[in-house]
Amino acid sequence: MNSKKLFDDGFINLGNDLLNFYEINNLIAQSTKLMEQAINNKDNLSKINISKNDFNYESIGSGGFAIKRPDQHNREISKILVKIFENNKINYLLESCLGRNFKIGQIVIRKSSKDDKGLGLHQDGRGHMNLVILLDDNFDIYGSTVFLKNSHLINARLDELKLLTSPLFLKIYKFFLSYIFGHRGDICLFLNRTWHGRYPSNGEKSKFLLLTQLIPEGTSYGTEYDDWYDDDYLESLGNSTFRNRIDHKIMTIKLNDRLVMIKDNPSEKISLKFESPKKNKVDNFNFVNIFYVISVMLIVYPARCIKKILVKFKFI
Ligand SMILES: [Fe+2]
Repeated sequence: MNSKKLFDDGFINLGNDLLNFYEINNLIAQSTKLMEQAINNKDNLSKINISKNDFNYESIGSGGFAIKRPDQHNREISKILVKIFENNKINYLLESCLGRNFKIGQIVIRKSSKDDKGLGLHQDGRGHMNLVILLDDNFDIYGSTVFLKNSHLINARLDELKLLTSPLFLKIYKFFLSYIFGHRGDICLFLNRTWHGRYPSNGEKSKFLLLTQLIPEGTSYGTEYDDWYDDDYLESLGNSTFRNRIDHKIMTIKLNDRLVMIKDNPSEKISLKFESPKKNKVDNFNFVNIFYVISVMLIVYPARCIKKILVKFKFI
């Protein structure tokens, strides 16, 4: 698997070699069924055995639908994830990026709704990556996860630069942004350090995805709702690699009920190396990114000052 594009751009489409035609269709059919059940029963989720915390239709940016732990809710989805994480090629690539003991944090299926307002550019946890399976053809930007290419190589983080902005900026900078172009069933990876967001919808329900959060060894992770996987489900997975990745009790040290630390190894972890870009050989620095950073600063910083003054003198 050629990972150069991942390290250069911050994201990559690996194609659909890992699953066959039947498995892709089944994954899409089962995910669609689960999502429709949740949307139709959103006021009575216990009827379909989904906890309130596992279905989300507001807080992931306005207008997206998301179901956590879809593999626990649907065993067909689980079987397909077991197969993917058993694959030697993908395992080798992910271990070289995240270390031998890397864990899977949250698994989510997500669909952009008709009135999805999008999600502004942001970064997630240090060294985190995402494995994404496209459950729709992804041939345009609307409702897609978008990236500022190469931005994982910018030394400062977005929050340090105070450049966390609303999705409006995605529209202003539309032609600076990239998205993963691909067919249903394609498997994609991105570094969560890459500045990314979700482009607003064009009025159609679209961009159905399965997102798998990958966490490097030596770091901690947890869940604020105490929604770790159920023991019964974990036991049903036997001794598979996938079970070892999602079971927070394996190869971890408990910090408290909601937080564990992944046991470390001396192995290289490329995703964490990107967290210190100054130490890396940055040979593809992008002028588009410099323009983006400077021009957004020129809009955002004065706008915040004006707002502060207006608030101080009670004009707003
Ligand atoms: Fe994110």
